[in-house]
Amino acid sequence: MEKIEELKRKIEKLKKDRNAIILAHNYQLPEVQDVADFVGDSLELARRATKVDAEVIVFAGVDFMAETAKILNPDKIVLIPNKRATCAMANMLKVKHILEAKKKYPNAPVVLYVNSTAETKAYADVTVTSANAVDIIKKLNSDVIIFGPDKNLAHYVAKVTGKTIIPVPPEGHCYVHKKFTIEDVERAKRLYPNAKLMVHPECNPEVQEHADIIVSTGGMIRRACEWDEWVVFTEREMVYRLSKLYPNKKFYPAKEDAVCVGMKAITLQHVYESLRDMKYEVTVPEEIAEKARKAIERMLEMS
Ligand code: 13P
Ligand code: SF4
Repeated sequence: MEKIEELKRKIEKLKKDRNAIILAHNYQLPEVQDVADFVGDSLELARRATKVDAEVIVFAGVDFMAETAKILNPDKIVLIPNKRATCAMANMLKVKHILEAKKKYPNAPVVLYVNSTAETKAYADVTVTSANAVDIIKKLNSDVIIFGPDKNLAHYVAKVTGKTIIPVPPEGHCYVHKKFTIEDVERAKRLYPNAKLMVHPECNPEVQEHADIIVSTGGMIRRACEWDEWVVFTEREMVYRLSKLYPNKKFYPAKEDAVCVGMKAITLQHVYESLRDMKYEVTVPEEIAEKARKAIERMLEMS
């Protein structure tokens, strides 16, 4: 405990010395969230990254999020505290999957979830997050959409919009959200009969069927005010975030072991060392960044 408080003090001092801010995703460890200047979902973080005055951005999240911040801030230094902080789902989508789908559906726009590498974003017409995927896909002037890499989000979007969604790769998924099953839904209903179910759209379709609300992590925060007791079907740390924001409500994790290893690769010690040694700098080659930026900026304009 003493060590945590000491690290927090050192981080606060370094933030001033380096003219740095810390952006953190909702799934970060509690003590990392506590030192962040802004905590949010991937859309909120991308938006916040366009409004940074500081010279240095320390990104406490996974690599695709830090890359997005760098693409939107080519002149700033963006640091990721641990190089192992990666998103397994983003890494499933390769450029060849997009090109193969483009051959079959040459007129279909390519819509990529921000959970994708900068290299693949360079082939996207627009990016989306789980907070705006439905709205943006509704607005696109095409009934057939190439979408990657999350098949479950693709299913959700297809269901709500009625459009034909071609998932790339065919089986892209998040291993954390894929863990939730019907048994978890049944257990949640048995243990917490008064609670409602908030479900991330990366969960399997059969779990989505039983959701009271299907929302991004930011949507969970916005909509938690609607009820007093919730079972949370997403990464475990979301329960900390929600409980801190709504101390008088009850939040239960649907599964204790729903843990994203990439998100948890960043500790307070890493954040401290990152600011102390100015490591690890995120770089995106300009020819990729330029194309990816267009897709991300189009998303920010459309949502
Ligand atoms: P959100 O945009 O809902 O924060 O989701 C990001 C993510 O990685 C979910 O697993
Ligand atoms: Fe990627 Fe899943 Fe982790 Fe989100 S929870 S960052 S989708 S691996």
